[in-house]
Amino acid sequence: MSKIFAANWKMYLNEEESIDFISKMSSNKDLFADKKVMIFPSHTALSSVKNALQIMPNIKVGMQDCDMKLSGAVTGSNSISSIPVDSCIVGHSERRIIFKEDEKVVKKKLENSLQAVETTILCIGETLDEKNQDKTFEVVDKQLSILPSALNGKKLIIAYEPVWAIGTGLVASNDYIAEVLSYINNAIKSLYSDEVLSEINLFYGGSVDESSVESLSTIPLLDGFLIGSASADFKKFENILKKMR
Ligand code: 13P
Repeated sequence: MSKIFAANWKMYLNEEESIDFISKMSSNKDLFADKKVMIFPSHTALSSVKNALQIMPNIKVGMQDCDMKLSGAVTGSNSISSIPVDSCIVGHSERRIIFKEDEKVVKKKLENSLQAVETTILCIGETLDEKNQDKTFEVVDKQLSILPSALNGKKLIIAYEPVWAIGTGLVASNDYIAEVLSYINNAIKSLYSDEVLSEINLFYGGSVDESSVESLSTIPLLDGFLIGSASADFKKFENILKKMR
């Protein structure tokens, strides 16, 4: 299966820069035509990015996060139903750490997202302290404990993003990622039927760039990448995709 590339633009690009990125994509249609790409712009650029991508219908667009509620008095937040999108990320470590989102919060967001969009990305992963204390699998178990008993025909991506590898330039080793993905795979096998499992993909994220993507793509069970900073730089993102031709 060809790999899926999810670009989490975080808060790197403003609306103008986001549109500029999409126009560079459309000038390179051949490269993007046969690739599975998902773009997660900032919320303020979502509508413009969606419009600009109408000419490239194979590219999916999603929200970087959603609120626990569908509507109501939540100043500054964004409901999953605020704008139609293909996908939504929940449980990103930056949300867990900066916004103190615990399993209860992520569970509610996961439920909302699974109801509303075609593909939900649930991010999981241990901090450096947890890794050093050999708690990786314990953390993975806890973060997977919120998975629902059914996906109701929706797709789920579990993105393993070790916190210590995010934005640090420290890519986890292939063996380490393979071991954790295998652990995740066994955990979900005990929860879901083969039919549901075929709708679940496993990703890696954390300092993925043009120099690491080729080697990482050989990891068994790996279906795709959730890429941060390198995905918000057109040249770097283009080089990543070119490596995967
Ligand atoms: P970096 O690729 O910048 O390390 O970020 C990874 C990430 O957090 C994607 O969600």
